[in-house]
Amino acid sequence: MKCDNTVSAIITGAGSGMGEASARLLHAAGVTTILLDRNLEAVAKVADELGALALSCDVSDEASVESAFASIAKDANNVRVCINCAGVAPAKRMVGRQGMMPLGDFKQVIDINLIGSFNIMRHAASLMSELSPLDEETGERGVIINTASVAAFEGQVGQTAYSASKGGVVAMTLPAARELASLGIRVMTIAPGIIGTPMITAMPDEVQASLASSIPFPKRLGKPHEYAHLVKSIIENPLLNGSVIRLDGAIRMQPK
Ligand SMILES: NC(=O)c1ccc[n+]([C@@H]2O[C@H](COP(=O)([O-])OP(=O)(O)OC[C@H]3O[C@@H](n4cnc5c(N)ncnc54)[C@H](O)[C@@H]3O)[C@@H](O)[C@H]2O)c1
Repeated sequence: MKCDNTVSAIITGAGSGMGEASARLLHAAGVTTILLDRNLEAVAKVADELGALALSCDVSDEASVESAFASIAKDANNVRVCINCAGVAPAKRMVGRQGMMPLGDFKQVIDINLIGSFNIMRHAASLMSELSPLDEETGERGVIINTASVAAFEGQVGQTAYSASKGGVVAMTLPAARELASLGIRVMTIAPGIIGTPMITAMPDEVQASLASSIPFPKRLGKPHEYAHLVKSIIENPLLNGSVIRLDGAIRMQPK
């Protein structure tokens, strides 16, 4: 699929980090971007700069997602791309100094990272299914890109909820791609390593330096635009489907 002014893209978590970088890169390529985030102030700032549509949306809230997609269906045309970047990464031990992790904490991470991604994906797929194929020969209608993490494979202490949520995103990639194949919609997942977004740059400098030194090459935090670059490649390459791509400088997180 071409990544240009013939298509529109929905991006969740577009108020910061990799979602914001994807919005900027796709906008620069001419794509019409629709930016969703639960932080309306942050996403409206990005949207104002790009002249894009910003919508307040909490991906873990069914009614909020419903209402965002009702606006999209009314105001946006030709949505062929959906990028799920909204996510949270709180670290908490199952049994820590303050006792047992409240069950609600675990559920909240699953609600946002896993169920939120699924909910956005089903709405996006439904919207795309109503469009004509871009190309009669291939039948391609659209592409959905989800965001997992290397923690899906090598979760650290304190990441039971986060790893479970991202493992779910990895696991649903192939069945979603198989199911949506008949509609000409591809599904891909990116599993980033350690990327220098506010999720990571909020950590103390020495923690960031230690994380960076554990990456074989390049020995630095990943850059959000490197994620956005992969998003663009996935959009443009029709053979990428049903897979999870690690974007991690060969890091394999070790137990601590
Ligand atoms: N930064 C990393 O090193 C890293 C590594 C692996 C995976 N990831 C994943 O990449 C994705 C993007 O993370 P980032 O690093 O850009 O983080 P970020 O914190 O910079 O951006 C995340 C955005 O998601 C939004 N968000 C959070 N919960 C939401 C909700 N319920 N509904 C709507 N929006 C919500 C936030 O407001 C924020 O704007 C996340 O899913 C994260 O788990 C990040």
